[in-house]
Amino acid sequence: MSKAQLSIRGEDLELPVIEGSEGEVGIDISRLRGGTGAVTLDAGYGNTGSCQSGITFIDGEKGILRYRGYAIEDLAEKASFEEVIHLLLWGELPTQGQLDDLNQKLGEYAVLDDGIKGFLKSLPKTAHPMSLLASAYTALETFYDSEGDSEEDVLRVLAGTATLSAYIYRHCKGLDFIDPRSDLDFAGNFLHMSFGKVGEEPNLNPAVQEAINKLLILHADHEQNCSASTVRMVGSAKASLYMSIAAGVGALSGPLHGGANQAVLEMLTAVQEDGGDLEKYVNMAKDKSSGFRLMGFGHRVYKNFDPRAKILKAACDEVLESLGLDDPLLDIAKKLEAVALEDEFFVKRRLYPNVDFYSGIIYRALSIPTNMFTVMFALGRVSGWIAQWKEMRNDPAFRIHRPRQIYIGETARAIQPISERG
Ligand code: ACO
Repeated sequence: MSKAQLSIRGEDLELPVIEGSEGEVGIDISRLRGGTGAVTLDAGYGNTGSCQSGITFIDGEKGILRYRGYAIEDLAEKASFEEVIHLLLWGELPTQGQLDDLNQKLGEYAVLDDGIKGFLKSLPKTAHPMSLLASAYTALETFYDSEGDSEEDVLRVLAGTATLSAYIYRHCKGLDFIDPRSDLDFAGNFLHMSFGKVGEEPNLNPAVQEAINKLLILHADHEQNCSASTVRMVGSAKASLYMSIAAGVGALSGPLHGGANQAVLEMLTAVQEDGGDLEKYVNMAKDKSSGFRLMGFGHRVYKNFDPRAKILKAACDEVLESLGLDDPLLDIAKKLEAVALEDEFFVKRRLYPNVDFYSGIIYRALSIPTNMFTVMFALGRVSGWIAQWKEMRNDPAFRIHRPRQIYIGETARAIQPISERG
């Protein structure tokens, strides 16, 4: 194993170098503070590996994304979301027997305690669906006598996410809830519970079901992003899976993360209402004082293209065609992408469309309301969060996550009596 040499305050330290299976190199600094008294400082964690993980590999320069070695393009094309769930959570694509078993369990655990319906109904219909979703996970835990870290909890959170998301959609619309069915797959169940008619048999459009399946796969995991790291952080305190996932939902709701899909559609609508003035929005994004960013553009890791955006751009055309729709926002999105990719500001900073840029156009075509877009993201991502959570809890190097800081505040001082302050 090679070593990294560090010289600090006259001390020399040799630090082990860890090499990943794809040639990624990390300097193991776990002895740094003990050996030198120093810590590292890395704003936004752009250079910090928080764990060793065998789940998802990303090469941001080459635009590669793989779940446990399988290319995202292949999974989106050839696998079902349930197969991807098995892959992420249990390490391998399932055999037919394993898939049948998983499908049966997902059907079983999608049925939640009836109390959750009353809980959701007690919350305002006007609340943001992501706030309702975060609340729903913590409420869900209260109905089950469990430590919150069993295989049953994993299945309940996973399968229950489709039920909770659909209930939330219907609650916001003032519609009665539809219960899950054991004869539908994950995507089908979500669609039936959301858009079905109470008391009627499911009436699913296979093209829509397939589009949702693809979207769920594309959103399933993305290694140590803000929400996955949050889930790991909270779970590292031995907090329950429900609490950890609720925290992940909170992180995902932010417009710089999953909330960007809603923001993209709002931005495209604003461009349309403005008569399609693309230059205005591109110029606004270039002007730092405007505080405006081109939503759905840029990524911490991808610097050439986001492979998910590429798949989704093609999927937009397919979905709209199969539904016989023509969405002017798709034309605006394509033109905006072309203008931005020609512009020196975006070229220099290597800003490309990310997963959120095109997903909203598909959700819109499927009649999913804009404020539900980030819930759709969570619907897929919960599988990745659980995989990350399980890996963290089973890691032999498990410790509570507790970063250090460099203190820059006042040095020690005495308290003045209040009459002498000012
Ligand atoms: N529009 C305009 N300028 C941008 C954008 C954007 N969307 N994104 C980054 N920049 C600029 C920054 O102003 C900065 O410019 P500077 O170097 O002159 O100061 C430079 O590009 C680098 O930006 P950072 O904020 O340092 O990049 P970081 O890696 O921290 O942030 C992020 C990545 C949050 C995704 C950012 O690109 C962004 O805000 N994008 C818009 C929101 C979005 O689409 N989020 C979804 C991300 S994908 C996901 O979470 C699922």
